[in-house]
Amino acid sequence: MATLFKDVLILDGSREKAERVHMLVSKGRIAQILDASENPPSADKIISGHGKLAVIPGFVNAHTHAAMVLLRGLGEEAPLMEWLQNKIWPVEDKLTPEYIYWGTLSAMLEMLSTGTTCFADMYFEMDRVAEAVLGAGMRAALCRGITAGEPGKIERSLQNNLDLAEKYHGREGLITVQLGPHAPYTVPFESMKNIASAAKSHGLGIHFHFLETEGELQNLPMSPEEYLNSSGLLDAPYLTLAHAVWLDVNTELPDNVTLIHNPNSNLKLGSGVMPLVSWLERGVPVALGTDGASSNNRLDMWEEMRIAALLHKGVNKDPVCVSALDVLRMATYEGARAYGFSQKGMLQEGWFADLVLVNLDKPHYIGVNEENLAAYLVYAGSSADVEGTMINGRWLYKNGEYPTLDCEEIMQKTREAREAITK
Ligand code: NI
Repeated sequence: MATLFKDVLILDGSREKAERVHMLVSKGRIAQILDASENPPSADKIISGHGKLAVIPGFVNAHTHAAMVLLRGLGEEAPLMEWLQNKIWPVEDKLTPEYIYWGTLSAMLEMLSTGTTCFADMYFEMDRVAEAVLGAGMRAALCRGITAGEPGKIERSLQNNLDLAEKYHGREGLITVQLGPHAPYTVPFESMKNIASAAKSHGLGIHFHFLETEGELQNLPMSPEEYLNSSGLLDAPYLTLAHAVWLDVNTELPDNVTLIHNPNSNLKLGSGVMPLVSWLERGVPVALGTDGASSNNRLDMWEEMRIAALLHKGVNKDPVCVSALDVLRMATYEGARAYGFSQKGMLQEGWFADLVLVNLDKPHYIGVNEENLAAYLVYAGSSADVEGTMINGRWLYKNGEYPTLDCEEIMQKTREAREAITK
């Protein structure tokens, strides 16, 4: 079935400004983009924009722990270690595969309604997460969060992560799998070497928390550069470093590394501010993520874009740095590329139709045009403007409804899970 977006504004991270076009989606891909002055092609479904609808690429939430929506609101306003050790880890012990399944689906409801088409998830019981993702038809980059614990736990978790890759990597074009060593402070260095070597031999990327807090930097047994080199982490096909708040901007990083900026989570946990401007100046790729819902507490990429664009202007006393287009590219294309999804994250002919339909027919968009759309979206817009979220040419969220998900059931099961783990 072909869908025509007739007379809409399109914008992505590769464009200097928006364009007013007709865009045809067919067989899951963007088949044609024509100037709006030309005759529109025919289609089964027509969405008429009259210049009052925008289409942007779907957001890629490049670092989250989806099922942590079950833990939202627990242990608010506490330091990272105290929060993890006293509030989060004891409750996580009570999570069952079933709870994680429903929690993930609940997170997906939030993400889809706010325009996210793909998320990078680090958690456990990832088979159930993969089932949730495939059932809905969403995209995800999945890894098993590997942490030390009782003897043999790391080895079992690594095997579990490798089994996940065997079973789900590349499934239906919706899933990529990474290895997920949690962090330097939860995985001993020798084990990190084993994980890195497994990633290299299996051709898998690595998703890793690195230098979120200053204390983590102080406790690192060597320099960050030495750590990344001698552990073998840099030898994986690709490496995503979540947070990297305390990573020195002079650190040498090969081009298979992407930094994941999580400004809301870093602010809420008082971790500090990543030197984003310097990384961008150096040309190091940076993607955006929300982190889990218990440290953000939203799974809303509009919010990440807005805060990222504002925060660094304030910190650097520079209204020119980190433009609206920069954060749009970070929130879309950079995340897709970082996790091995090709031809996603931009609106180009032949690329996958993962996109967000945005309603511009609202008071806060008066004055919007091709030149200023990026700034309107990032500074005035919000997820409340999302009309629809499409993945592979199929609507997963449209006008408040979820065609592939039973919203009522998911919310009920998630409520029950929350009650069970907190009683
Ligand atoms: Ni995280």
